[in-house]
Amino acid sequence: MRPLINWEELHSITRPPMWHKPEADSAWRENFACFYNKMASMEKAYTLNQVNALPLLPGDTLLDMGCGPGRLSVPLAKRVGSVTSLDVSEEVLEYCRMNADTAGVTNLTTRKLDFEDAVAGENVEKHDVVICSRSVGLRDLQKLSSFAKRLTAIVTFANAPSIPHLLAKIFDGTSAETGQRPPFAAFGMDRRLNYNVFFNIVYDLGYEPNIKVVDDGFSKDYSSREEAYEDIITLKKVDEDKKDVFRKNLDSYLTKNDKGGITFFIETRTCVMWWEKNPKKFF
Ligand SMILES: C[S@@+](CC[C@H](N)C(=O)[O-])C[C@H]1O[C@@H](n2cnc3c(N)ncnc32)[C@H](O)[C@@H]1O
Repeated sequence: MRPLINWEELHSITRPPMWHKPEADSAWRENFACFYNKMASMEKAYTLNQVNALPLLPGDTLLDMGCGPGRLSVPLAKRVGSVTSLDVSEEVLEYCRMNADTAGVTNLTTRKLDFEDAVAGENVEKHDVVICSRSVGLRDLQKLSSFAKRLTAIVTFANAPSIPHLLAKIFDGTSAETGQRPPFAAFGMDRRLNYNVFFNIVYDLGYEPNIKVVDDGFSKDYSSREEAYEDIITLKKVDEDKKDVFRKNLDSYLTKNDKGGITFFIETRTCVMWWEKNPKKFF
């Protein structure tokens, strides 16, 4: 089918730059792995909303493309037969294995490979379910689907802040250094270019996409406000003379909890989309 609107092209000219640079040096990769693992641990409770949205079967084999530290791989492994967690970075895969061990998950295998070099049925086996969350597979949904025998799923932020947007709120005005991360102002914050783009690409590929939009957020309990400041400040560079700005920003996301401590919570929303490999055709 020739699409009426070229959603693929629209996506390629408007998508944000990849956060993770596969060609980056190992120090950058280690830094990213440590940072993202920390973010993923704060998202743990809300990640279950994404897992619960998917129609998984207990015996499924599942491939997590661009798995990172296993934010989804680990809870998914508890719901299916086995998980292959694929990522280009050995540094994040190390966290993924560690997180699997901590969770007592034994049916998860890591695989270091670049999505660009992965070929379904050749160097990567087809799996019952393929999932790609906030990673490179979102750039080529046809290729992503080629790894699936039954179901393909994607996870993206849904007309709500992504991690860079959330950090921009907490770290607003805290560093004179520019260009730490590209300006993420446009993509993801414009309703015209959000999960509707993915929906239309999938639709035009001939699939019948399903969507569930779920609550998402990052949360962590601390014994004191001071402990929260010290922990969250490690997520990004803050100038010595801007620490007060950071604390004031962070205060908006800290509340007293009923355990006598402080809870950090920042809210967002996520879209989970999935489609069957072989939808029944009527026409
Ligand atoms: C933002 S993280 C998302 C991790 C995880 N999917 C999640 O939702 O929490 C993006 C991940 O994609 C991986 N990645 C980036 N480019 C890749 C590529 N070309 N092939 C495989 N993985 C890649 C990165 O190493 C990183 O772990």
